[in-house]
Amino acid sequence: MQGVTPIKPSESSASPSANGQQIRQLYLQLTAAFSVAVLAWPYYALRNEELPWPHTAFAIAGTALLLASLTRQPWWWRLIHAAFAPLAWGVSQLAIPPGWYLLAFLLLMLIFRGAPGGQVPLYLSNADTAAAIARHIAKRPAVRFVDLGAGVGSLLVPLARERPDSHFTGIENAPLTWLIGRLRSARLSNCTWRWGDLWQIDLSDFDMVHAFLSPTPMAALWQKARQQMPPGSVFISNSFPVPDVEPQQVIEVNDSRRTRLYCYRV
Ligand SMILES: C[S@@+](CC[C@H](N)C(=O)[O-])C[C@H]1O[C@@H](n2cnc3c(N)ncnc32)[C@H](O)[C@@H]1O
Repeated sequence: MQGVTPIKPSESSASPSANGQQIRQLYLQLTAAFSVAVLAWPYYALRNEELPWPHTAFAIAGTALLLASLTRQPWWWRLIHAAFAPLAWGVSQLAIPPGWYLLAFLLLMLIFRGAPGGQVPLYLSNADTAAAIARHIAKRPAVRFVDLGAGVGSLLVPLARERPDSHFTGIENAPLTWLIGRLRSARLSNCTWRWGDLWQIDLSDFDMVHAFLSPTPMAALWQKARQQMPPGSVFISNSFPVPDVEPQQVIEVNDSRRTRLYCYRV
């Protein structure tokens, strides 16, 4: 049985914010650094000695780990808190000019723009998954298909090649992946490659919607799909089920990842 929670119109295109969680973690790390500094600085200043940075970094790491454990943060956040200050100190010893950090940050944002705000990293559908979806839509004539967060077109390009009778739309917001997908799909007249935010796209134009994102946005995305997609259309989520909603069908792809495609009829 599918969930029947009524949809509030104002929620339909709202992206789930992951920023609250990230800001909490930032506060936690800053609290640890501040607590250690408050104790260590006066102590070493009174003795007229320089702050021993490696020891300070490990003291911050220990405090951050303690705070993260006390506040029951997920294990990966505890690991990040424990590693952050020692790593920052270690990297500072390499004396790399700051411009390189800025360059590395900009390069990462060109590819992983979806990760900091929406907790959606980049990983790509493989050929087996594209073939499984092609089989799934084989009996539907003239499909209007959209891939939300289309990456570099790993799914959309093979589907568009295989189904010239159908139309495929990809929407992607990371600049470099968008550009690669744009170039790959340039010669396909049945493929529209759009730059933009998946939360702003109107899903009423599509009878098949695919998303391969992360667990974070699934509940909000399903709300949007239910409100905007036409009756009888299908929402497919690669790997991440919609919480508390029974899929109508689960396609098991015979690949090394053991990909599961969760299909929900709207
Ligand atoms: C896991 S990848 C999947 C790529 C592709 N759909 C595939 O199956 O190969 C998720 C993609 O969604 C993009 N993305 C994340 N948030 C987005 C947003 N709000 N709007 C558009 N694209 C987004 C990311 O940049 C990334 O390329």
